Amino acid sequence: MWAGRRSWLPSRVDPVAIRLRDGRQVTLREAGADDGERIQAALSRLSAESRYTRFMSALREATPRMLEQATRSDPGRQLQLLAVIGEPGAETVVGGTRFDAAHGSHDCEFAIAIVDGWQGVGLARTMLEALMQAAAERGFERMEGYILASNAPMLGLARKLGFQRVKSPEEPAVHLVRCELRRPAVA
Ligand SMILES: CC(C)(COP(=O)(O)OP(=O)(O)OC[C@H]1O[C@@H](n2cnc3c(N)ncnc32)[C@H](O)[C@@H]1OP(=O)(O)O)[C@@H](O)C(=O)NCCC(=O)NCCS
Repeated sequence: MWAGRRSWLPSRVDPVAIRLRDGRQVTLREAGADDGERIQAALSRLSAESRYTRFMSALREATPRMLEQATRSDPGRQLQLLAVIGEPGAETVVGGTRFDAAHGSHDCEFAIAIVDGWQGVGLARTMLEALMQAAAERGFERMEGYILASNAPMLGLARKLGFQRVKSPEEPAVHLVRCELRRPAVA
């Protein structure tokens, strides 16, 4: 049986350079305490439609609580990954994904948004795969997400990554998808 969550704090995700389908390169890394303004700027560059499909509301900017969670994640139950371009210290965020879990739960919930000019070149897939791997390494057993029924790109991507639709209290407008995380290989 899967041993479940480890008692020690997980190590940080190492930054990794990713080449996208169109040749552009981004760095995938964990968010840090000084990323608040960068995340806020990325949010302001999302189209109204992308903001709506991500937050299911017409949210214009991240609240202080959202920024606090993104930049100071509780390592035992949250992880915020960013895709960034540019030099260290002067980076621009072009995508973000995170998971959150309730205290003591083996299930976590994902969310993701890619800045519009960076969509359609495989960035979300790469970021979600990294997020799922990190969640599995931290002992989570399932990942789930709430997706607007009209969000064909996200529903298509979730299907490709192995998520299946399950009953949701918010049907039919919002679908709940869930995936069993693959147990990491034991060294
Ligand atoms: C949904 C979203 C995250 C996808 O990001 P992306 O970087 O464009 O996705 P990718 O390029 O990695 O595409 C991955 C897959 O998505 C699916 N996809 C993309 N566009 C699609 C479309 N118009 N219709 C159906 N499937 C589509 C495909 O399966 C694609 O696989 P492929 O690359 O093999 O063709 C992005 O559009 C976004 O940020 N939207 C706004 C926020 C949001 O909706 N978040 C989800 C709710 S948490």
